[in-house]
Amino acid sequence: MSLTKIGNVKIETPLALAPLLGVNCTTFRLLCKKKGAGLIYSGMFDSDEIIRKNKCEKFLAEESPLAIQIVGNNKEKLEQATQIVDEYANIIDINLSCPMKEILAKKSGAFFLKHPEQLKKIIKPVMNNTNKPITAKIRTGWDSQNINCVEVCKQLEDYGISAVAIHGRTTKQRYSGKADWEIIKQVKEKTNLTIIGNGDITKPGQAKYYLERNYCDIVMIGRGAMGNPDIFRRCKHLLETGTNTLELTEQEKKLELIDFLKLYEQTEDKMRIGEIKDHINWFLKSNRNKINILNKIKNMIEIEQIIDVIANN
Ligand SMILES: Cc1cc2nc3c(=O)[nH]c(=O)nc-3n(C[C@H](O)[C@H](O)[C@H](O)COP(=O)(O)O)c2cc1C
Repeated sequence: MSLTKIGNVKIETPLALAPLLGVNCTTFRLLCKKKGAGLIYSGMFDSDEIIRKNKCEKFLAEESPLAIQIVGNNKEKLEQATQIVDEYANIIDINLSCPMKEILAKKSGAFFLKHPEQLKKIIKPVMNNTNKPITAKIRTGWDSQNINCVEVCKQLEDYGISAVAIHGRTTKQRYSGKADWEIIKQVKEKTNLTIIGNGDITKPGQAKYYLERNYCDIVMIGRGAMGNPDIFRRCKHLLETGTNTLELTEQEKKLELIDFLKLYEQTEDKMRIGEIKDHINWFLKSNRNKINILNKIKNMIEIEQIIDVIANN
């Protein structure tokens, strides 16, 4: 497996956990790292929110290398937010891909794919306030009539961005249709940027295919990792040995979920019961007994009690 670098940051395995708001708690990020992800992203943080709290959430040294993603539009706020995030991040990532209404209304996120002439306004304030490598996450363009990721990436390269993650869909597509990996490959061929390819990876064979055929330098996995951090172990194994390893059995997945819950209790500052139950839901996605377990834990708020139910059902 070849070693990749983003700026001066070494990426040991070409596998990234995608930024996932509401999913990437410290515990989940740690588990994905332990399983073999070479690069971990936080969910996005709005520059307003970072400034209001004057800090970021809990990040641990074991998660490193960690990319913290920020989203924003205002120069002064981005400058200030970057100075705060700089203390925690190995890499600072700028979100240019979010299609959510509230973010677009603030002229942030994927808004810049429609208005690339305004990109400099937000890249420079981040760049001028940190020595950490800066990356960006984009989509292929605004809509199918306006696929501009090659041009946007050339522009980002000129500004000194170290790597770009490309989700192979347009903003208008949101999550519909299939990710277009041929466009990601074009960007890889036409720029000198480190390219992080993203979209619809759910199997180790897909990761190997895109890496070996030079579609990108690193593959990024989002939904395929939710409740399934083991995907990183399986991808790493395939890349290292050329052979597939078995998926975890339902029993093994349950044990992994229990380990996750124990780690959550040790790691997180706050017990967020809604977040815990979301993760349980994702981990038990294909478990025949899922509904029964979810019903039993519906009103529970103690992790030990929840673990007991999972272990005995
Ligand atoms: C629950 C959820 C939360 C997400 N949060 C973010 C985010 O905070 N920042 C971001 O750039 N993309 C976010 N995304 C998009 C993912 O990072 C990724 O680009 C997308 O899911 C496609 O990759 P996948 O097919 O591997 O899931 C989110 C996606 C999901 C499903």
